[in-house]
Order: sequence, then C-alpha cells, then structure tokens
Amino acid sequence: MTGATLQAIRYQRGSLDILDQLLLPHETLYISISTLALGHNAIKTMQVRGAPAIAIVAALTLAVVLVNPATAPRLTTAQGAVDFILESLEYLKTSRPTAVNLFDAAHKLAKGVQEANSEGVSGADMLEEDVKDNMNIGKFGAEFILNVWKGGNDLRVITHCNTGSLATAGYGTALGIIRALAGQGKLSHAYCTETRPYNQGSRLTAYELVYEKIPSTLITDSMASALLAQHSDKIAAIVVGADRVAANGDTANKIGTYQLAITAQYHNVPFIVAAPSTSVDLNIASGKEIHIEVRPEVEVTTLRGPVVELDSIARGAHAVEFKKTSADAVMTETIAVAARGIHVWNPSFDVTPAELISAIVTERGVVFKEDGVQSFDMKAFLSSN
Ligand code: MRU
Repeated sequence: MTGATLQAIRYQRGSLDILDQLLLPHETLYISISTLALGHNAIKTMQVRGAPAIAIVAALTLAVVLVNPATAPRLTTAQGAVDFILESLEYLKTSRPTAVNLFDAAHKLAKGVQEANSEGVSGADMLEEDVKDNMNIGKFGAEFILNVWKGGNDLRVITHCNTGSLATAGYGTALGIIRALAGQGKLSHAYCTETRPYNQGSRLTAYELVYEKIPSTLITDSMASALLAQHSDKIAAIVVGADRVAANGDTANKIGTYQLAITAQYHNVPFIVAAPSTSVDLNIASGKEIHIEVRPEVEVTTLRGPVVELDSIARGAHAVEFKKTSADAVMTETIAVAARGIHVWNPSFDVTPAELISAIVTERGVVFKEDGVQSFDMKAFLSSN
C-alpha cells in the first residue's frame, strides 16, 4: 500500500476545498467551497458524496461562511448569529435526504449554538473524529472476518459502492475493513461492484483500490451472484457501508445492496454492514421509515464519458457539458445509453432488512443479533458501548 492518502476534503480555517468526484477517475480537481449555495450544490450534485463526507462538508461549509466578511452583518448580535446558523443548517439539510449523518451533524451543531454549548461539535473536530472512527471500524471488522473465516489463506471479499477515503474524512468504513485486512497481509483479493447508475464502484472504489495497490477486480452489479456461485468457498464476506441504520438494524445503503444481501444469504456468506454510530438513527424503529432519495433520470439514461480535449469531440448524438477548471475549460462527454422516451425509476438507495445482515461493525465494536431474533437492538448496543 502507498503511504500517501487520498483526501476528499481539505480544510483550514476560512477555506474548504473538495475533490470533485464527478470528474474522477479522469481528472483530479479540487474546487473551493466558499458559500452555502456552493456547499449545498456540491452535495446535491454529488461532487462530494458518501454519508460521512456529506455531513462533514455541510458543517465545514458553514464554518467557512461564518468567517467570511460578507456574513459579518448577520452576526452583529448573538440572536442574529444563532438565527443565521439555524437557517443555514436547515438549508444545507435539504441537499440530500437519505444519509442520517447530515441530519445528525446539523442537529448537534444547532444544539451547540442554541445552548451556547462549547461541547457542541465543530466541522474540524468531525474531520479528525471520522478518521479515528474509521480506523476502529477497520480494526473491528477485520478481526470479525478473520474470526469467522475458515477458508485458509485465499481470503476474498466483495464490496459495493464507495465507502473509502473519498466517502469519508479518510480511510473509509467498509473499504476501511478491506484496507485493514490488506494492511495485515490477510486479504488475497477484493471485488468491487460497478454500482450503477452513478458508478461509485468503478469510478471511485476501483480508483482507491488501484491507488492503494490492493489486489482487486471490478465486476458489474449483475455479476455478483455468478461470482459467489463459482467462488463462495473463497469469499469471506460481503462488506458494505450504510447511509442510515434503523433501531432494529434495517440498513439503507446504495441501490443494489439489498440484492447482494439476498445472494449472500443464499450462498451462506456473511453480509457485513460497516458504519460509524452517527449513521444509526434511533428515532426510527425500522427501515420502512427511511426516506429514499430518487435521483434524476439522466443518471440512468446516460453515461459520463472521459474528459476529452475540446477539438477531439465527436459531436452528433452526444450531449456535451462544459466543466471549468482553474487552468482551462475541459469537456465531459455524456453518452446516451437508453432509448429516448423510456420511463426511468432511479432510487439512489435501498433498504436491507436486518434479518439478512450478519453483523454491524461500528467504531464502538461489532453488533450481533440475539439468538433466535431476526433484528438488532441498536439502542442497547449504543448505550452500553
Ligand atoms: O449516493 P452516495 O454515493 O452518497 O451513496 C454512498 C453510499 O451509499 C455509501 O455506501 C454510504 O454513504 C457509506 S459511505 C462511508
């Protein structure tokens, strides 16, 4: 593995830059977030994505805006400052609805200012805490997999979506477990799914795995069952992240997670959810209460092509979009892959019922179901760990 780490979020007082994940893996471009509208837009358009990263960018956007001289007139009285912060948080919360981390961070920040509480969270603390949490998730998850694995040295895992350094402040959750196994020399191979329609797997996870020199193979989402049918004796676990875990353990995660959990159970392979405790929503009893974001049709009907030079674009049927970089204008080609006029359903997440989940790995340890019970007791776990 390389010593350098990928960084999705760069922050210092008054300045926030994020790696534009819409351009990866073709181009590495950091964009500056200096206003609430830019922060909101970066989250909504998925320039930054992944439950922890979304929450951190929202908090840091607010931190940057608060020290911007343009905001000063709103901050001349204590009440004016509180009102400004609460309004800003309400606005940032409208960017994406499913991952609870954003709402949890907004709630903690709002509580902090309302109670003038110096113990409230800050965006900078969140950056630091998240990396620590992820390293613990990696440690606990790797330990758990090594304990249950009876298959010898050829230990392989499958993961879905992107849960790595790009989805968090660093290291990652499910990908953190893969990093930990690889770091201990225990991983023989990682498979990552393409993760249609946004391709977080092929564009981002594959990029991280290659960057880290972890032996890995990309499969399309439709190949997972065939892979398990051929190699279930070599697959130690399917490891995924979470956007929201209900009190009973039902888990919302990237669309396609549910079908992976079904195939894992059929092939008798452990299905592991990895998430920080900030992804657990004790306010909801089950996954039925999770609001699933439905995203634009265009994400399914088109593929975003490589960034190409302006004059080498073949025009015609291809839609073309301009992206301004600091240096130059580059072009991203958007290629139609569906018949015009077809209706599209594009839910961004699905809910995996707790009964299909073998264990939930958090920074505080691993949660299991009681014998004979089909759900987790997340409240009991979090209050005793
Ligand atoms: O739509 P995205 O890319 O924000 O969805 C990301 C996922 O579903 C991740 O698995 C989840 O947020 C966990 S990231 C540590």
